Amino acid sequence: AQALKGLNCFGELVLLRTDFNVPLSKGPKGELSVSDATRIDAALPTVRLLLGKGAKLVIVSHLGRPEPNKASLSALRLTHGLNPVFSVLKERLGAENIGFVDSCVGPVADTAIAQLQSGQALLLENVRFHVGETQNDLDFAKQLSKHFRIFVNDAFGVLHRDDASVTGVAKIIPNCFPGLLVAKEVHILSGLFLRPRMPLVVLIGGAKVADKMGVVGKFCETASKVLVGGKMAFTFLAAKGVLVGATQVDEPHRFEEARNIEKKARSYGVDFLLPSDQVVAANLEGPLPTAIVPLTLACCTSPLEPCIRDGFVGGDIGPKTVKEFEDVIQTACTIFWNGPLGAYEMPAFSFGTLAIAHAIAAATKKGATTIVGGGDSSAAVHEAGLTAADFTHICTGGGASLEFLQGNMLPGLAVWT
Ligand code: 3PG
Repeated sequence: AQALKGLNCFGELVLLRTDFNVPLSKGPKGELSVSDATRIDAALPTVRLLLGKGAKLVIVSHLGRPEPNKASLSALRLTHGLNPVFSVLKERLGAENIGFVDSCVGPVADTAIAQLQSGQALLLENVRFHVGETQNDLDFAKQLSKHFRIFVNDAFGVLHRDDASVTGVAKIIPNCFPGLLVAKEVHILSGLFLRPRMPLVVLIGGAKVADKMGVVGKFCETASKVLVGGKMAFTFLAAKGVLVGATQVDEPHRFEEARNIEKKARSYGVDFLLPSDQVVAANLEGPLPTAIVPLTLACCTSPLEPCIRDGFVGGDIGPKTVKEFEDVIQTACTIFWNGPLGAYEMPAFSFGTLAIAHAIAAATKKGATTIVGGGDSSAAVHEAGLTAADFTHICTGGGASLEFLQGNMLPGLAVWT
């Protein structure tokens, strides 16, 4: 960050990689608009810094996972174009300060880049409209790089991708810098391992068991307490022989790994907490009657005792678990939370996630360092009526932060070393 602040780039063309992979929603006439601008706002300090220095700033990003092999460019523009992002940028920076061109390489982009004035920005169209981006094709990386002597990467959320606009251009452009957001995310997430204020409480929920198992295991070495909720928890619960009824258990082949993670937590003296009750229903689809049941071991549950019966699924942590998790959260000086505790987008199953979001926000007020990661958790924060100001940091990277926290070197960072 210091290097970027000291950079003299007045009148220079600067290529800035951002992660503007933001959620879009459809308006009444089918027009798309950005429904959560967190990632755009998070990149603005770097954008403003470079514009303030008088750079001619060219911004490149991906959005979604378009398939350029399967659709025409005009069809891709309708579904995955960066126009909605451009609308937000115009609002934030002033329409006179930013332009948009509907390609990222080729003569149209070249002309728009050549016309840029000092202190002006130009957003290029989605880099993933070209197969060369995800294939990290050298020719494509050369085309993207050809105007630039300075490259700034502020796309924390995409640092785990070995893509042309992430690592390819960094190998070609002579002067590369991390952006302010990348520096901040790396600093904050490294702090979770290097110097967390103890007790460190880690709360992992959500559904991506395969992606998150490694992080849960890693924190079982360093945290004071690890709490697992959401769909994730069912892999651990089922592995122990807890009755889960018809709840879909992801990754059953990971039961052994799940049991080993719990064992590891015990051997490191880390408390490992799973939900003790659930809100259940016949399915998670509609407004059905729900019930609250304890989570019990198959071997010890008589047919009359309450448990998740066949034909029922768990949709949220129950009130007992909420209380148990809240009590732990109150003891923490540092909290890392990734992933909702249930199907929070349905009102019947939102209580647990929203209550935990409020408990973590309350911990921030009492002085705890609170870090929220992952798109679903940030959406839940908004759903709970909270904002980024209620937490120390809301991480902009989903997969990237999980990879980073497992100690894996991210290609977008490795390329600088
Ligand atoms: C994300 O949303 O995690 C990043 O933008 C990366 O997107 P990807 O998983 O499609 O590469």
